[in-house]
Amino acid sequence: MTSKMKWWHSAIGYQIYPKSFQDTNHDGIGDIAGITQRLDHLTDLGVDVVWISPVNLSPMMDHGYDISDYYQIDPSFGSNEDFSELLAKAGEKGIKILMDLVINHTSTEHPWFKAAMADLDSEYADYYVIKEGRENGAPPNNWRSMFGGSAWEKISGTDNKFYLHLFTVGQPDLNWENPKLRQKLYEMIRYWLDQGVAGFRIDAIAHIKKIYDEKIISPDGPDGLATVWEQYRNACGIGEFLKEMREAIFADSDVLTIAEMDVPDPDQWLEYFGDNGYFSSIFDFYHTPYTIQEEKYQQDPAAFVDLLKQKLYKKQVLANDRVFFTNFLENHDLSRMPDRLIPQKDISFDSITAWSMMYFFLRGIPVIYQGQEIGMRDYPKTSIDGYLDLATHNSYRDYLLRGLTPAAALAKINQECRENSRTPMQWDAGNFAGFSEVSPWFAVNPNYPQVNVAWQAAEPDSLLNFFKKMTSLRKSEKLAPLMIYGRTVPVLQEVKGLVAYYREREGQRLVVVANLTANMQKIPLKKAVNEPLLNNLPGFIQTTAYGELQPYQSVIWYETGGESLAT
Ligand code: NOJ
Ligand code: CA
Repeated sequence: MTSKMKWWHSAIGYQIYPKSFQDTNHDGIGDIAGITQRLDHLTDLGVDVVWISPVNLSPMMDHGYDISDYYQIDPSFGSNEDFSELLAKAGEKGIKILMDLVINHTSTEHPWFKAAMADLDSEYADYYVIKEGRENGAPPNNWRSMFGGSAWEKISGTDNKFYLHLFTVGQPDLNWENPKLRQKLYEMIRYWLDQGVAGFRIDAIAHIKKIYDEKIISPDGPDGLATVWEQYRNACGIGEFLKEMREAIFADSDVLTIAEMDVPDPDQWLEYFGDNGYFSSIFDFYHTPYTIQEEKYQQDPAAFVDLLKQKLYKKQVLANDRVFFTNFLENHDLSRMPDRLIPQKDISFDSITAWSMMYFFLRGIPVIYQGQEIGMRDYPKTSIDGYLDLATHNSYRDYLLRGLTPAAALAKINQECRENSRTPMQWDAGNFAGFSEVSPWFAVNPNYPQVNVAWQAAEPDSLLNFFKKMTSLRKSEKLAPLMIYGRTVPVLQEVKGLVAYYREREGQRLVVVANLTANMQKIPLKKAVNEPLLNNLPGFIQTTAYGELQPYQSVIWYETGGESLAT
């Protein structure tokens, strides 16, 4: 049992990508004052904790995930005073703020890195991973960066020295083996806690330990490079750093720490969570690298649903009584949910709400990504120049290298690009969707006259209002203990395209059934189902032997005693 009750067990989360949320000073870039201005949207939606992607000083090579001063707010987002004001105003409304903590790497513009480059004998050189290249002037080994190309960059002005960057060339990896560096990072974390942040989403944390060697691994791609996960993802020994950080700062506190987790096997996460785990919660990608747009799933969409279902069940069962994972279908590194999970011909209010109900009542912290609550969609580009993201350009080049035509490469990028979710938030039908008065840094999706907050707020049957119904159901006083602490029990697993589960606690049960197919599905019943707590379609047909779920119908009901489903 998760022994201690924590404020965040009952939290409903919302992620803001600040660059694209709300511009207030007419420079086309979202800012912190814009978040403060839109707090009412968040309270109306029923959100109580907000994770903001990085707002620290940055040259923005990776839109803020490359920090050049941990203590300063980037002027494009406003000032440190704006941030304090946001904390205060959000606090008045009962909203807690999480910062994004990027401590696997800094920017090449960080003074530590500059000092290291200016003098490789200075103490700052030991803040980074700097190695001698091979005799022929080639990099120290053939590790590939996660964002494409070599993970090493030659240090100009040196004979043969290189620095490591597991992400873009502008994001040199920090050397966690150096205790002095670790203390500097802990100081900085304490600073932001003192300012009043409630916790952090912790970026790329599974990569802080590197097991470096000079071995040249046999290449796994035409670029001659190799991805060698075991040497820089959850690498042996990482626990010592994570334990130290936990004990230095987070242990026995009320701080919410959500670790970004790209380790693919959930059984390897066990030490990360639980009462003595490194973090409070995990934001993982076990269920995210899949798209319905793949040819094989186009032919059999229900098989796609079943794949995701197995992934979600595995995590839920692992988490029962131990941890509250975050549950999400969208974030700033993924294309939009409807385009990724639902066959194009089926994308509608029904299918979006069916999927939304499926994930929102799982055990854990549900997180909504900005724009998801109004059904924002991907915005494919007609040229690769329409994208700004370096990682996207690298994978486009890689597709060409693998022999794809430019048109085929662009089609793939349009399908999978993470920038799909970074188009400006669509507030209303006015100029630039109410995001800004001037042309924004990244083009607005032209569907904004039909898809926007103002219109949906006024329309009782809109997706936005459906999200409000979901949040208020999760928070209803009577059901809260069951919603929060109920164990997840997967049921009817064999029914293709159906996701069904119980949330059970002390003889009470919530039943969630989601038909994620375009066909009617029958579910076997032993007795009549109680009046649904939430139903995304009008009515729920029952006979004595079965319930009839219409295409993309999701229903949730409450019961005590014997089960109504024949499982
Ligand atoms: C994960 C972040 O979510 C992503 O946006 C970023 O590019 C990398 N970490 C590197 O910081
Ligand atoms: Ca601005």
